[in-house]
Amino acid sequence: MGPFEMSQSTISARIFAVHQQLASFCPQITRIAVAIHDPITGTLRTFLQSTQGANPLAAYECALDDVPSLRSIAQARAPRVINDLSKALEPVSEHSVRILGSGYRSSYTVPMFAHDDLLGLLFFDADETDVFTPQVRARLDVFAQLISLLVAREQASIHTLSAAIRTAVKFGRFRDEETGAHLMRMSHLAQLIARRLPPGKALDDELAEFLLLFAPLHDIGKIAIPDDILRKQGPLSAVEMDIMRSHVDQGFALVNTLIDEFELNDLEHIDMLRNIVRYHHENFDGSGYNAGLSADGIPIEARIVKVADVFDALTSVRPYKAAWPVEEACRYLSDHRGTIFDPDCADALIGSRDEAMAIRRRFEDTP
Ligand SMILES: [Fe+2]
Ligand SMILES: [Fe+2]
Repeated sequence: MGPFEMSQSTISARIFAVHQQLASFCPQITRIAVAIHDPITGTLRTFLQSTQGANPLAAYECALDDVPSLRSIAQARAPRVINDLSKALEPVSEHSVRILGSGYRSSYTVPMFAHDDLLGLLFFDADETDVFTPQVRARLDVFAQLISLLVAREQASIHTLSAAIRTAVKFGRFRDEETGAHLMRMSHLAQLIARRLPPGKALDDELAEFLLLFAPLHDIGKIAIPDDILRKQGPLSAVEMDIMRSHVDQGFALVNTLIDEFELNDLEHIDMLRNIVRYHHENFDGSGYNAGLSADGIPIEARIVKVADVFDALTSVRPYKAAWPVEEACRYLSDHRGTIFDPDCADALIGSRDEAMAIRRRFEDTP
C-alpha cells in the first residue's frame, strides 16, 4: 500500500471475520453492526457492520434519547432479544423503518460498556423469527465480549493520545480559537463532508469516525510556534510566515514522537492522523505548503479537513474579522474549488449547508 492510499477499514474486516464464524452455527444471522455512543453529543452513530446484502444503515446518526427502545437497553445494561421484529418494533424511528424494510425478522442487541461508560450497542439481526434461543445467545455473548474489547481498545488508545494532547494544550501555547468549539465544529464538519462525498469517494462509517477523532489535532504543531508570532494581530512578515508555516512539519514530528512514546503504532488508521497533520495546508492545484502535493496526491483526509477548517474559520468571529454569512462562505468554497479545495469536498459541504449550520448551533462559541 502506498503512503497516500486510504487504508482499509480494518476493524470492519475483523467484524466480517467474526460474522463468517457465526455463520457456521447460525446462518440466519445476516447482519452484525456496531453503533458507537458519543458521550459529548449524546448521539449514537453507525460505526461497523457486516451485512449480507445491502447495508440498511450507513452514515446514520441519532440522539439516543430519541430512540427509547435503544436507550432502555443502555439503561438496563442488559441485552434485549426480539423474536419477532414485525410485532415488536413500532416503525416510528427511521432506524426501525430501515431495519424492518430490509427484511430482518428477529434481533439480539447487546450494550457495550467500558468501566461505567456506554461505548455503544452491538446488533445481531436475523432473517427469520425466533433465531435467538438461549443457546444461540450464550454463544453470541462470547463474540459480543470480543467485539466490545476490540472497540474499547481502539477508543482507549485514541483517548490516551487525546489526553496527551490536551495536556500539551493546557500549557497555553494555542490561540483561543484553536481550542474548544472551533475544533468540535471543524471535526464534525469533516465527518459530514466525508459522508457526503460522491459514492466511491465517500469514507465509510469506520473511517469517518476516525476522521472525527483525529481532525481536532490538525494544528498540534502550533505548540512549537513562539507566542509573539502565534498571537500577533497584524500581518506576518515573510520570515514570521515561514516560521508559522513550519507548524505543519513540527506537528508531524510531534505526532510521530507521541505515537512512539505511547506505543500507538498499532492503532488502526494512525496514518490518517499523520496525513491530516502533515498535509492540511496543501492546495488542490499544488500551490499549498509544505509538500506541494496536488489533487489525488493529497490524502483525502487532509483535503476534507482543509475544507472543514477553512469553512468554520470563515463563518466564525475572529479578533480581526466578523463572521461571514453561510452563503458567502459557500461562495468562497465554490470560487476556489479546484484551486484551493478538492471540488468534491467543497461541493459536499455546500450541498449539506443545513447540516453544517446544525453543527454550528450545536457547538456555539462560549464568550
Ligand atoms: Fe494549520
Ligand atoms: Fe483550525
